[in-house]
Amino acid sequence: MASLPTELPRTIRLLDPGAGAGMLAVAVCERVAHMTPPRHMDIHAYETDESLLDTLRDALSASRDHLAVCGHTMDFTIHPNDFILRGPHLHDSDDLFGLVSESDFDVVVMNPPYLKIGKDSDYARAMARIVHGQPNLYAFFMSLGASALKPGGQFVAITPRSFANGPYFRTFRQWFLSHMSIQRLHLFHSRRDAFSEAGVLQENIITHAVRCDNTDRNQDITISYSEGRDVPPQPRTLMLPASFIVDNTGGDAIIRIPASEMDAAAVRAVESWPDRFRSIGLRVSTGPVVAFRAREFIQQGKPTNGEIPLLCVQNVHPFRTVWPAKSERKTFSFRVSSESERLLIPSCNYVLIRRFSAKEETHRLTASPVYADAFGSPQVAIENHLNYVYHAERPLTRAETMGIAAVLNSRLLDTYFRAISGNTQVNAAEIRAMPFPSLAALTRIGELLSERSTDDRRVVDRVVLDTLRINGPIREFFLSEDADVQGQ
Ligand SMILES: C[S@@+](CC[C@H](N)C(=O)[O-])C[C@H]1O[C@@H](n2cnc3c(N)ncnc32)[C@H](O)[C@@H]1O
Repeated sequence: MASLPTELPRTIRLLDPGAGAGMLAVAVCERVAHMTPPRHMDIHAYETDESLLDTLRDALSASRDHLAVCGHTMDFTIHPNDFILRGPHLHDSDDLFGLVSESDFDVVVMNPPYLKIGKDSDYARAMARIVHGQPNLYAFFMSLGASALKPGGQFVAITPRSFANGPYFRTFRQWFLSHMSIQRLHLFHSRRDAFSEAGVLQENIITHAVRCDNTDRNQDITISYSEGRDVPPQPRTLMLPASFIVDNTGGDAIIRIPASEMDAAAVRAVESWPDRFRSIGLRVSTGPVVAFRAREFIQQGKPTNGEIPLLCVQNVHPFRTVWPAKSERKTFSFRVSSESERLLIPSCNYVLIRRFSAKEETHRLTASPVYADAFGSPQVAIENHLNYVYHAERPLTRAETMGIAAVLNSRLLDTYFRAISGNTQVNAAEIRAMPFPSLAALTRIGELLSERSTDDRRVVDRVVLDTLRINGPIREFFLSEDADVQGQ
């Protein structure tokens, strides 16, 4: 992270908000120590944990001594203050996002705290302009850190990837992307390794960006990757235009991070489809049955007295809705009564999608068709860990249902989805906004798969790619062994 800022000035004003024991500021000092002297550093570290302040002071003092030996000078100030509520931006401006003279930093480097913030907290009130729904403290650190930079100042942060997409961070992204020009993103692929002790189960990312109020959309952004928590000296990299990485269709400002050239090609192929999920009449909703609120209607095991199946996550497998589940313990039924009626939906053809994928599951999207005649009941009960897809105006045909499940389970769409989202969660909003093949193409895919009566993934991928006329290197790749290895 310390190596990322380029062209450091002779005098470097550096901000480390949430400095902990100071390791990031110290790493920048290490780098400066090797530069041609004399340089001057002016470090401002914010830290609220009193138990860390002595260590922080010792670490920065040691860096100052080391810099002096190398012919440089350094001052540091430790602010034992809350960076959000009492940071540099508040001293002489009411506008948290105004550039104030005191906040003229050349570099901000941060590993901010990750904490979900309630809507009514002091933090949320202070940051009302960029919060929406259930924000995370780290996004506040990112925006205030970025706003403390002078034009051309450099920003380096390690955070969860969740800010890159999704509605909660939309306002933050819009602000960040209109004031910062992203130079480099480093993605830690494994959700298991990085930050495992912090219990963060999503991919993490290092962002290097430059303060620049008129972002040049044509410049390239470097993306690099590593599998575990260590960054190899020469990580795998990819250069893509900023206009590709930042997708501002519908004002969402999604930051897409494809994992390879092939994935970028898959994103381009999917985005060349003229239709979107919603525009072809498809709708997606969350299953209405919230188990803990509907306990009185739910029973374990198969129906004993006219109940109907309750479809849950364990019943959704790629291409197959399996009810009853393998074990009696994981099979649930639902009692139909005048009070429970409102939680049921009419038996029609639907596609079920799991809303959460397991931590390291190969596919992020798992979809299964469920047909109107599957259970012989006029209604069906769907639990709220599932989303279900239907048509706005009429029942889906059988072929459309199979076609939609096939496309959602295909490697092509899964790759697209991974490029736009690092979360294990599959939001209905993201599905609605996705480009999607036409109903005619979905019907064709469904028919071809019914003729072959197979759910072998390789066959499904071939049928999807052929029907959608996706040729060339992506097709070869998705049908190759390499794609299998990458998906695992
Ligand atoms: C994830 S740790 C990172 C520490 C250090 N930068 C590092 O990389 O090792 C986040 C730090 O932010 C501090 N912190 C949490 N909330 C803060 C706030 N509102 N203002 C300033 N510091 C805060 C925590 O005490 C913790 O030391």
